[in-house]
This record gives sequence, structure tokens and C-alpha cells, in this order.
Amino acid sequence: VSQTIPRPRDRARAFCDRYGLALPILLAPMAGASPASLSIAVAQAGGMGALGALLSPPDAIRRWVHDLRAAGANAFQLNTWIPDPSPKRDPGAEAQVRRFLGDWGPEVAASAGDVVLPDFDAQCDAFLESTPAAVSSIMGVFPPSFVARLKAAGIAWFATATTLAEAERAQAAGADAIVAQGFEAGGHRGSFDAAAAERQLIGLFALIPYFASRLTVPIIAAGGIGDGRGVAAALTLGASAVLVGTAFLRCPEAKTHPSWAAALENLAPEETMLTRAWTGRLARAIASDYARAWEAPGAPRPAPYPVQRGLASALRESGTAAGDIHRMQAWAGQSASMSRAIPAGELVREMWDVADGLLL
Ligand SMILES: Cc1cc2nc3c(=O)[nH]c(=O)nc-3n(C[C@H](O)[C@H](O)[C@H](O)COP(=O)(O)O)c2cc1C
Repeated sequence: VSQTIPRPRDRARAFCDRYGLALPILLAPMAGASPASLSIAVAQAGGMGALGALLSPPDAIRRWVHDLRAAGANAFQLNTWIPDPSPKRDPGAEAQVRRFLGDWGPEVAASAGDVVLPDFDAQCDAFLESTPAAVSSIMGVFPPSFVARLKAAGIAWFATATTLAEAERAQAAGADAIVAQGFEAGGHRGSFDAAAAERQLIGLFALIPYFASRLTVPIIAAGGIGDGRGVAAALTLGASAVLVGTAFLRCPEAKTHPSWAAALENLAPEETMLTRAWTGRLARAIASDYARAWEAPGAPRPAPYPVQRGLASALRESGTAAGDIHRMQAWAGQSASMSRAIPAGELVREMWDVADGLLL
């Protein structure tokens, strides 16, 4: 075994050398929760920062990159979602969803489902122009023309996958590393087929070695990693680096809404749940009264992505303004209790110190 499988530490070092990192810890891209301050802190501690740019127009992407570079933080990835096919609209079903939402927040206008997302191609152009260490994808693979432009510019592509079939598609399409997303993860599942998400819920402990035995590109482990033990375990199982989201959400640099941050403290794994209630795509959130209500008998089915995102936006805004965790969109992974209200750089260094001590 030792002849064919590189030791965890060597694998991690090779990854760090390639991407100019001091330690193999990557901040997860988190749309709506990626302030520059958090990435600067992680990058300054020797890890890699990340922008979840899904909701960011090109100007906002450029501004974020400028802030990172002004702070001397050069190790970062820029991330967006591969667009889904246009959703099938069903006015009757949407009317039921709107009525249901009206019981939780403001009345919902029929036009709220007509969501226009920032232009994907314009985001891709802004990514290229920013020359980050890596660009990353979730929910599918980049078109070949964009992959060719990334390669020509020397920018790596990290592709999120939740199954081997997805990982193999991404590898064949030219991905330089696969982000193996376990079902413990906070936020959205990266399932390429939105409808398949509930059937493809694989735990990270099974996912990493399964990928490691079958893929040729490095694996970045994501989902439920919150301290040095998880980092050491992921590297031992075959990952070259880890990607951590939820555990950073209580750090001051994350600027997380105080009600959300407070709810993460000591949150038990079973107090999170997978739900389509906020966007129509499956995502792990705090098991709030609102999210649970969608599971009750007689509740309508959420509309497809991104229609549900639009229909739920009035509730999202009013719940957030009120600071009411039961009516707020608050993502959380199963390791939320490992999130700590300490500077992100300290969290990164401590995670790596503990992992380093545990690894052979
Ligand atoms: C608040 C939040 C927002 C997220 N947004 C994105 C996103 O925009 N793009 C993406 O690829 N992953 C996104 N994710 C998923 C993370 O990249 C990653 O898979 C996850 O955080 C790892 O699990 P953990 O939260 O248990 O560390 C998000 C996660 C959270 C918690």
C-alpha cells in the first residue's frame, strides 16, 4: 500500500506547493457569505480564500479581488454555479407556494418567481480577467470553451462533485481537482441533476476513499470538517486538501448575521436539515420552523430553482430584518457546533496544528 498510495502529508504538500499555500485548508466559497475580510484572514494564515460569486455581478467580483490583492492575499478561488436548464413554470403550483409563504412572511406577488440571475458568461469573463489561483464550479461542468480559456491563462479549475459519475465527468472535462462534497456540508448540494439530490446523499467518509481509488486528479474534501481531527481524517482517507465553510461562520471576519451566528453555537447535527424551502435546490440549513413546515403533511412542493428563490425572497428579507432564525435563510453543516467565535486566522492555524500532530 505504501508504494502506491502517497502518504497524506506528501499529498497535502504537493497540493500546497502547486497553489502557493502554507497549509492545505481552503475556505469554502459561500454565496452571500464571502466577505473579502474572511478570505483575507484565511489567506494570510496560509490557506486559500474564496468568493462564492453566484449573486455577484462582474463589478462586485472585481471589487472583491481588488480588496484581496490590496491586502496582499493572492491565494483565492472564484466560484459560481453552472446554470440549470430553464425551470418549467406551473402557475397553479406557484400560487399554492405563494399562499404558503404568505403565512410566514409578507404577501408574495406572482411576479416574484421571475428571477433574473447575474449573467453567467459575464461572471466567467470577470473570473478570467482576475487571474485567480483557481476558478471553481458547482452543479455541473463549465462549457469546453471556458475550460480552454482557463487552461490558456494557467488558471486551475476545481469542480464540485457529489457522486463518482459527476467527478468523472468533471475530470474528463479537464478539472484540475475535484471537491468531494459529502452530505454533511452546509449550503447547497452540488448535484448536477437537481432532481436527483435526495437520492445521492453520500457521507464524506465513504466518498473520499471511493474517489481516491478511482480518480487521477487531487481531491479536496468538503462537508462536516470543523477541526484538526477532521482535517487529518480527510487527508488520511485520500484527500489532498480540505474545504471548510460552516466552521468559519462565527469568526468575526465572516460578518454573519448575529442571529444566524448565535444559532450555530452548539447546534447539534440533527438540528440541521436538507431542504428545498429557500431556493428550490436542495441545501442543508438550520432546521427552522419554516423549513420543517414544508415537511408537514399537506404542505405544497417547493417550486424549482430559481423560482422558489424568488418566491421566498420577501420572507428572506423580512426574516433577516427581524433577526428571526425561524424565518431566515441560515445554512449550516452538520459540524456547526465546531464553529468558533475567534479570528479566522487563528482557527486555520489551530486546525492545521492539530492535524499536523495527528498525521504520520
Ligand atoms: C453559507 C454557505 C453558502 C454556500 N454557498 C456556496 C456557493 O455559492 N458555491 C459553492 O460551490 N458552495 C457553496 N456552499 C457549500 C460549500 O462550498 C461547502 O461545500 C460546504 O460549506 C462544506 O461543508 P461545511 O459547511 O460542513 O464545511 C455554501 C455553504 C455555506 C455554508
